[in-house]
Amino acid sequence: MAANISTKFAGLELRSPVIVGSSALTSNLANLKKLEENGAGAVVLKSIFEEEIIFEYNEYAKEAEKYGYDYEYLDYFDYKIKQDNLNKYINLIKEAKANLSIPVIASVNCISAHEWTNFAKRIEEAGADALELNIFIMPSDINKTSTELEETYFNIVKEVRSKIHIPLIVKMTQYFTGLANVIVNLSKTGIDGLVLFNRHYHLDFDIDKREVRAAHVFSDELEYILPLRWIAITSGKTDCTMAASTGVHDGRSMVKMILAGASAVEVVSTIYKHGPQRIQKMNQFLAEYMDKHGYNTIEDFRGLMSQDKIKHPDIFERVQFMRYFSDREDIL
Ligand SMILES: Cc1cc2nc3c(=O)[nH]c(=O)nc-3n(C[C@H](O)[C@H](O)[C@H](O)COP(=O)(O)O)c2cc1C
Repeated sequence: MAANISTKFAGLELRSPVIVGSSALTSNLANLKKLEENGAGAVVLKSIFEEEIIFEYNEYAKEAEKYGYDYEYLDYFDYKIKQDNLNKYINLIKEAKANLSIPVIASVNCISAHEWTNFAKRIEEAGADALELNIFIMPSDINKTSTELEETYFNIVKEVRSKIHIPLIVKMTQYFTGLANVIVNLSKTGIDGLVLFNRHYHLDFDIDKREVRAAHVFSDELEYILPLRWIAITSGKTDCTMAASTGVHDGRSMVKMILAGASAVEVVSTIYKHGPQRIQKMNQFLAEYMDKHGYNTIEDFRGLMSQDKIKHPDIFERVQFMRYFSDREDIL
């Protein structure tokens, strides 16, 4: 391979733009080693979940209340659950750092700017190369306006940014009304990287059992079109580097993301479906594409198809199928 596929994302030097995203794939050392051996540029460890910690505490609190334990006792449990969860996570970071040479990104899933943000400091001290915040507040509270919801995101980022010095990455959702505005403003908060977008847990119905069940856990290979458009629209306007997540399944969609302006991609579903060897194939496709088009480095073609570089930028604003349907009246 003549082409140099190394890249820089969130201040981290990566030998490849393929980052393996946060999931069970990145929750133990054996897996992490396989991902590194197969050419991953970095790994994002499985998230530590703020909600899980709160839930566990609430379960203990219910039990304790039944037996009439006092608040001091509950405080002790609150403290202990948090410390136990955090200690396990800190050990994973330390183990990964001791055994891998690629960057190790820790991940926290958060829904508030409460005192858990102190965890960020311990994650930094454990040696993580960066911290990714996976923030999603389900907009299901009918009393919360979009402005209030947005404020929570910005408060979390502000709080964590003030506590740590390692690169800070925000993995965000597409569920904002003023999406471009939120993306660009988040990029100006002092963070180092933005990931567009997280993929959420979806629900479906079993109509015979009348039960709710998990829907479609993994992304399919066409879902990349959503982050593609939004990276293309915003990459020329943001103050930090960007990575694409959701639906990037092969080298071709990775090249598209780089053309849109991304510096890296975070992949999960494709590794579940095709194994860690998929990373090698993606790296190979990228190098061959670069050789074919005479690009020596990723910066030679990154962003060439972003909205601010493309000949007809209004194409990114187009949302209606108008002509497509009027051209195809004979379809039935
Ligand atoms: C089984 C599974 C577990 C995941 N766990 C986490 C997690 O703990 N933290 C997180 O930030 N994202 C998690 N994600 C989201 C992924 O990191 C990724 O952003 C998403 O799956 C989109 O990428 P993909 O289309 O390549 O799968 C998970 C995804 C899957 C499928």
